[in-house]
Amino acid sequence: MGLKVVSSAIISFSLLLLLASTAKAQSNGVFDVTKYGGKEDITEALNNAWKDACASTNPSKVLIPSGTYLLRQVTLAGLARLRLSSNGTFDRQGNVAWSKSTCNKDKNCEGLPMNIRFDFITNGLVRDITTRDSKNFHVNVLGCKNLTFQHFTVIAPGESINTDGIHIGQSTGIYIINSNIGTGDDCISVGDGTEELHVTGVTCGPGHGISVGSLGRYPNEKPVSGIFVKNCTISNTTNGVRIKSWPDLYGGVASNMHFEDIVMNNVQNPVVVDQEYCPWNQCSLKSPSKVKISDVSFKNIRGTSATPVVVKLCLQWWHPV
Ligand SMILES: *[C@@H]1O[C@H](CO)[C@@H](O)[C@H](O)[C@H]1NC(C)=O
Ligand SMILES: *[C@@H]1O[C@H](CO)[C@@H](O)[C@H](O)[C@H]1NC(C)=O
Ligand SMILES: *[C@@H]1O[C@H](CO)[C@@H](O)[C@H](O)[C@H]1NC(C)=O
Ligand SMILES: *[C@@H]1O[C@H](CO)[C@@H](O)[C@H](O)[C@H]1NC(C)=O
Repeated sequence: MGLKVVSSAIISFSLLLLLASTAKAQSNGVFDVTKYGGKEDITEALNNAWKDACASTNPSKVLIPSGTYLLRQVTLAGLARLRLSSNGTFDRQGNVAWSKSTCNKDKNCEGLPMNIRFDFITNGLVRDITTRDSKNFHVNVLGCKNLTFQHFTVIAPGESINTDGIHIGQSTGIYIINSNIGTGDDCISVGDGTEELHVTGVTCGPGHGISVGSLGRYPNEKPVSGIFVKNCTISNTTNGVRIKSWPDLYGGVASNMHFEDIVMNNVQNPVVVDQEYCPWNQCSLKSPSKVKISDVSFKNIRGTSATPVVVKLCLQWWHPV
């Protein structure tokens, strides 16, 4: 598994990384980066402290004491049961990149770095972390099993480009609880292979809302199923809750998706199921979407729409009615 911080982020921190490990013994179990020569730039120190912590037989902690540091790209690989908790902020100062980004309209664009990637984490907990002004997605979750985000905060302006808050793909058992996401793109976006996603007590806005998809853009996408979005407040966003798939291209399955007890404030399109998702005219509408969407419910969704369109459905009917 790995935690990858892609930055030259300025981090204001008091960070605790706690992991259980099974190698060489260590006395008090706390690995303080400032004891590894970490001063302004803690990249090397964090790397070394992490390695020692992973080699410890006892549960161990990597500590970044309160302060403001520079962190360049670092990949932290190790064992299960990651805990990442702090009162700290990963600040990517991405505003210089947004105006130059073409990633929203050019799929071959050079990828800008995301703030934090969680790859192949099992049984992890991320708590009291803030990510600010990423150049690209704030957080990418890939191949994880049982990972919880609690009191997680995403901050970026509504006009920042492609700055999805948390993007999830190929993962099972992801919990996003009591968190606050305001950004320039989807607050939460759900990619293929996501199963058992629970989003509860999340406030979203500004941004593009909570989205499943887009699906069907690439071949061999894995099914999406078991998506539960509950007790959320979505404000000042372009969309509220949305399921989107591309027309004409590839097949896929998205089922068992439920949206319940959601308050919308000044949302342009509160409920959207769009099977003709085609931003920047990158596709053809010649043939319908091949993605099968089923078993979807929207319950107790209330509030105000910023436009006369409250529910927008643009569906392919697989079983003619
Ligand atoms: C975060 O702040 C709270 C309240 O100030 C404090 O109780 C807690 O110990 C802090 N956590 C860390 C990891 O520093
Ligand atoms: C999921 O992960 C959390 C946090 O590490 C852990 O407390 C919990 O026991 C795990 N659940 C299962 C079913 O393994
Ligand atoms: C609903 O969400 C709010 C945060 O927006 C949280 O404070 C509250 O505890 C949640 N209620 C339930 C029943 O989960
Ligand atoms: C939504 O926008 C209004 C008007 O700009 C602002 O007063 C309000 O604070 C915003 N709400 C949230 C939750 O961002």
